[in-house]
Amino acid sequence: MSILVAGGAGYIGSVTVERLSRAGHKVVVYDNLSRGHREAVPNQVTFVQGDIADSATLEKALREHKVDAVMHFCAHSQVGESVKEPFMYYQNNVQNGINLLGAMLRCDVKQFIFSSTAAVFGEPDAIPITEETAQHPTNPYGRTKWMFEQILRDCSDAHGLRSISLRYFNACGATELCGEDHTPETHLIPIVLDVAAGKRESLGIFGRDYPTQDGTCIRDYVHVSDLADAHIKALEALGKGAATNIYNLGNGQGFSVLEVVQAAEEVTSRKIPCINSPRRAGDPARLVASSDRIREELHWNPQIADLRRIIETAWKWKLEHPNGYGSAPAAAKDRFAS
Ligand code: UFG
Repeated sequence: MSILVAGGAGYIGSVTVERLSRAGHKVVVYDNLSRGHREAVPNQVTFVQGDIADSATLEKALREHKVDAVMHFCAHSQVGESVKEPFMYYQNNVQNGINLLGAMLRCDVKQFIFSSTAAVFGEPDAIPITEETAQHPTNPYGRTKWMFEQILRDCSDAHGLRSISLRYFNACGATELCGEDHTPETHLIPIVLDVAAGKRESLGIFGRDYPTQDGTCIRDYVHVSDLADAHIKALEALGKGAATNIYNLGNGQGFSVLEVVQAAEEVTSRKIPCINSPRRAGDPARLVASSDRIREELHWNPQIADLRRIIETAWKWKLEHPNGYGSAPAAAKDRFAS
């Protein structure tokens, strides 16, 4: 199949491009490089620099490459930023997303895989979180993703554009070629590893007074290559005629911030100094997924579910790319196709 990966130069998008190419699909990465990295896209993969707000460039890419399905990764995804800049989030994540759907419909492309998030749930009523758990997003980021899920349902009913929305819990880890490189970095595991690598002095622990066993927040950490595999399975399902659907994607096991720090100290054999800091606005105490639905219906089975193993992959990438993609070995991109 020919797949357009919007946001394929970003963290989860680039790993999915790796998987799609290995599975024999023709891949077109469509990315404006505002947050993604050109170095994350292998030379063998077609790259179009464009914005999803730009209908003409989008439609040209969809037609020229005879695209069968679109995967959409190119949203803004930082909770704190979304609180400060809500218009930016509604514009990119909702308005530009609608623009992408419009271009698809005009080009008669009717299969779509959407990167959604556990942030649609806000502070959940019960753990583990199923697809039916009530959704009360607590920040603009979560609301944009929740809205887009509703838009996709309406689009499916009205126009027959079938979609699968994948609600990621805490994406982390790296593959041989692709890893996490955000500016600024806000996520726990890369920050913890920056401390281990001596690039930061300490980790600020955001809140020690949550109603959890050690007072720190609990999250469900899921390896980025397992997330990528879920996209392949979703694509196959759509190809076989699956109806529009939504799935949670997590390992079903929660780890506190302190447990992540301890695991990282074991993996790196380095001490990670921590400082108690105030709670971060909008952080729910506990987010742990039930992914039973995708396991049963799409036979998704995470391969790197162990937290230490996940951190090992991220640590290896960090050691090989001490300054992120800026320090990638020149030949790395070419190793990809072999
Ligand atoms: N944390 C710290 N110190 C830091 C960074 C994070 O204590 O310097 C804590 C956070 O407070 C939180 C946990 O570590 O309790 C994980 O934080 P991340 O920023 O790594 O991830 P979030 O859980 O905030 O958010 C991530 C994605 C969201 C997604 C969410 C779903 O960034 O897009 O997972 O679980 F919605």
